[in-house]
Amino acid sequence: NGRIVVAIDGPSGSGKSSVSKAVARTLNAAYLDTGAMYRAITFSVLAEGADLNDAAAVAQAVRDAQLQISVDPDAELVQIAGQDVTQAIREPRISENVSAVATNLEARAELVRRQQEIIAANERIVAEGRDITTVVAPDADARILLTASEEARLRRRGLQLGGTQNDAQLEAQVLARDAKDSTVVNFTEAADGVMTVDSSDLDFEQTIAAVLDAVQAAK
Ligand code: C5P
Repeated sequence: NGRIVVAIDGPSGSGKSSVSKAVARTLNAAYLDTGAMYRAITFSVLAEGADLNDAAAVAQAVRDAQLQISVDPDAELVQIAGQDVTQAIREPRISENVSAVATNLEARAELVRRQQEIIAANERIVAEGRDITTVVAPDADARILLTASEEARLRRRGLQLGGTQNDAQLEAQVLARDAKDSTVVNFTEAADGVMTVDSSDLDFEQTIAAVLDAVQAAK
């Protein structure tokens, strides 16, 4: 039970968040959802009525943001200036706009800095996102890329390839967000020393077991 940092990256719909939380519980570690931080900043910029396309305004919003995030894997809580935004940051309007924050390099630098502070402050922690294995915690004890085929990712979202009009629209949104995200971070290929866990043909419990095996192998 000494210090351990586990870094997990992957695209949306890879089951990253629920798997990372479960892994954190098993390892008796804290859990950091870095995507929630990008979402919270997006919420805050929209709430202020600032222009998400104004790079300087977005960068300023990140510097000013009084962002608080719980690292308890059993108590999800995200606050902006004391306001509970845990549910609000999951709304479609946030997912649709979050790339404006994610592609802003000054915003990223500030969020990476805060994420590194949180990781340093916790003896044992599992941190997940898109750039944890490469930028935020390249020295982590275990670095894992959690992937899943496009088909598996859509299936987990309750969608089907070649499904209804609505499915097709949601599918297009998920793929468009990943495409935008991948312009700043490469989270589809494992960097040097990063282990890949492909969850396409694994159920939830099997995926957790595979990630824990990877952590064990890395130590
Ligand atoms: O993981 P989640 O889907 O909640 O992340 C929301 C968005 O935050 C991603 O689509 C991406 O634009 C951004 N993000 C990021 N780097 C991270 C985590 C999330 O750019 N480490």
